[in-house]
Amino acid sequence: MYRISALRIETQPHDCVNFVAKFSMKGVTRFQLIWIIFSLSVMCCKQTYQGPDPGNVVNAKDTHTYAQPEVARVTHLSLDLTVDFDSKVLSGSAHYQMDLDSNASEIILDMHRLEIDSILIGTTGSMRTASYQIGEEKPFMGSPLTIETSPSDSEMTIFYKTHPEALALQWLNPQQTLGKEHPFLFTQGQAILTRSWIPCQDSPGIRYTYEANIKVPAGLMAVMSATNPQSKSDDGSYRFTMEQPITSYLMALAVGDIAFSSIGDRTGVYAEPGMLEAASYEMADLEKMVVATEELYGPYQWDRFDLIILPPSFPFGGMENPKLTFATPTIIAGDRSLTSLVAHELAHSWSGNLVTNATWDDFWLNEGHTVYLERRIMEALYGKEYADMLALLGLQDLQSTIDDLGPEDDDTHLKLDLEGRDPDEGMTDVAYEKGYLLLRTLEELAGREVFDQYLKSYFEKYQFQSIGTDKWVAYVNKYLIHEQDLTFSVEEWVYGPGIPDNAAQISSDRFAMVDRRVSEFDRIGRLDRSTTRGWSTHEWLHFIRQLPHDLHVSFYEKLDTVFDFSNSGNSEILAAWLELSIRSGYMPDHNQAQLEAFLTRVGRRKFLTPLYRALKETDQLDLARQIFDQARPNYHSVSSRSIAELLEEEPAI
Ligand code: BES
Ligand code: ZN
Repeated sequence: MYRISALRIETQPHDCVNFVAKFSMKGVTRFQLIWIIFSLSVMCCKQTYQGPDPGNVVNAKDTHTYAQPEVARVTHLSLDLTVDFDSKVLSGSAHYQMDLDSNASEIILDMHRLEIDSILIGTTGSMRTASYQIGEEKPFMGSPLTIETSPSDSEMTIFYKTHPEALALQWLNPQQTLGKEHPFLFTQGQAILTRSWIPCQDSPGIRYTYEANIKVPAGLMAVMSATNPQSKSDDGSYRFTMEQPITSYLMALAVGDIAFSSIGDRTGVYAEPGMLEAASYEMADLEKMVVATEELYGPYQWDRFDLIILPPSFPFGGMENPKLTFATPTIIAGDRSLTSLVAHELAHSWSGNLVTNATWDDFWLNEGHTVYLERRIMEALYGKEYADMLALLGLQDLQSTIDDLGPEDDDTHLKLDLEGRDPDEGMTDVAYEKGYLLLRTLEELAGREVFDQYLKSYFEKYQFQSIGTDKWVAYVNKYLIHEQDLTFSVEEWVYGPGIPDNAAQISSDRFAMVDRRVSEFDRIGRLDRSTTRGWSTHEWLHFIRQLPHDLHVSFYEKLDTVFDFSNSGNSEILAAWLELSIRSGYMPDHNQAQLEAFLTRVGRRKFLTPLYRALKETDQLDLARQIFDQARPNYHSVSSRSIAELLEEEPAI
């Protein structure tokens, strides 16, 4: 037989491995020798990856939870709650299955202003009253709820009530709904608000399954981030199950006069009855979106993908509650022009709900990947030109956020350090758009086919897990950068400031055309309607954003007369126009009335912040405060707190 008597391998970075081998030739045929040399050269030619093994990188600690999952964690939750609109309180019990380490003497949950009535602990059929303490309340963190445990404990029940001003909950009276007859309730959990309606381990690194019994006034429907009813029950009792493990920020509930309309086999919309037809028209492509995403990134793992259109006070465009995305009615434009938001929330079924950021410092993993997927879905359905317009609008948002923060600011890093701060502060366009730009840059570098394969394998590898940025860096370095022999520093993008020089260049012929119209208007002060025929919402947005702020008011008046922006039924266009109106000083009575009506009716923070900020920056703080005082009852705590801070007013609680 043959034997390798000496083998020396010399390696050089980014180079093929050279090897020198001396063979003892006894008994080796020439064919065998050639085969050995061939095999060794194949083995050695691929440079071995020398960075950390993604499997061994430990997730950083989540500083926004009191829970200690390495000692004691919740694995399943059964909720039993009654919804009382009169007192604005949820009351009942939360029953937990737990996994305790052998040396555990306590389990810690997060809570914010909950009224705890009593706690039982033990094993099935043998529960005893537990001793517990509620620790000091800290701003935005709430309080630790520490329950004493014995080694054999596996179950626990907490009897509790929520505070009428619970931060996650928004209780709407009938006047604040479309139908004006029934009250409405919805929750918003992300980032760390679920602790204000459920005692829980409120960390994106901790997953559990859940079930719930929810009792609401007869005549109303309840829906959750779970399997949902499609019609009202007779007595207002509803039962839910979520068999896939999820994290606390994805716990969600909505209650109201809600009806359902089916779209495809796995898709449908919920809304107040008066909104249902418009909502299902707008969402006609829902099923197609699911199919397109599955083709790119593997199977949809959550059975159904439904959407609920909430009343206009919902503070976000959308929230990816699993199985049932919550959405603002401001995306119902009548022409299906704002559905990229739905593609975005759907994309979270892979990036976010399936592979989850381990801590809020890693928020960009959720949102950067989701924006990337969103644009790939839009491209698959409506073409590259369409997706590139979205990407350019996003890049503009990123540039203005970086200008505001300062290009060297730590908050322009993808990986954040939010310890001691409200995680909400880290939720800027940096996570969304710098994250997107990094992935798009990698796609262009590696080639689409390779990059798609890589992303698909990433979702498969980490499905139903929570991962931190360091683990992502190790994974991308090992399976993309080294495997493809690319020269690229993901570290510079992730741990460094601003937009690195090697960012992908994004351009759009359609926007270039819009730019020509803007400069034409700038030059001759007039714009022919015929030159803007066929423009989509995105072209109009780009147009309004590019207009100078310092022209004589008569120019804005002329534009408004021709294009009727201040009466636009498209919330994106109206909001952009109102901001320009404030900044340019073009504020006739009609615009002022539109501004006040918009700020009072709509609670979506993305629209409120720029408008209030524009008022503040144009020395109209008094007017801003006056509108805010009136509009505030329509805002969810998320929006209300941001605007209160902007206008230097006191938050409610
Ligand atoms: N998960 C976010 C909403 C969110 C972020 C809630 C941070 C709380 C804290 C959701 O997926 C989102 O990004 N919504 C955007 C949609 C947009 C980027 C298409 C929104 O609401 O504007
Ligand atoms: Zn998102």
